[in-house]
Amino acid sequence: MNRIIFLLSTSVLLFAVQPAYSEEITPSGGDLRQLVSMPDQAREFMRKDMLDHLSALNEIIGYLAENKLDAAADVAETRMGRTSMGKHRGTGMGPGRFMPLEMRKLGWGMHDAASEFSKIAKQGDIKSAYSALQKITSSCVACHYSYRTR
Ligand code: HEC
Repeated sequence: MNRIIFLLSTSVLLFAVQPAYSEEITPSGGDLRQLVSMPDQAREFMRKDMLDHLSALNEIIGYLAENKLDAAADVAETRMGRTSMGKHRGTGMGPGRFMPLEMRKLGWGMHDAASEFSKIAKQGDIKSAYSALQKITSSCVACHYSYRTR
């Protein structure tokens, strides 16, 4: 009798555990980021922009280390700031079009943070510049932890 109760309760348990388990063995490997589908062309634009953001950040850090705040400001504004927005609009394949609103807001937040960094860096205080730089990288982190495109 005890054995039957044991078997019954284990099967109930297994049943309860099942959904979580099958989620983990899906192709995303338990990845909880939201999948955002885009046409290949839009994804390709986004990937190139992303690589450019990464190398822009790298240049900015180099300039900060040399105390060249104006140069850091220029890189931020032209490559990541508000002036860099809408490059692909004419093609109809700008990645922003395919992003859910919350994701798009994170993108806008990144462009704003880069323009804000640019303004602050031009004022010449290195500590404030570093704080402003971290607001840019926080946008990278926030979006990457929430979304994927494949
Ligand atoms: C609005 C969302 C968003 C923001 C903001 C964002 N990214 Fe991305 N990034 C993505 C997504 C989505 C991918 C694709 C990841 C995936 O599908 O797994 C990506 C991919 C990348 C890649 C990989 C490119 C490749 O060759 O595959 C790099 C590098 C990258 N991002 C750098 C950055 C940096 C640096 C920043 C901040 C300055 C940044 N990203 C800000 C959404 C964002």
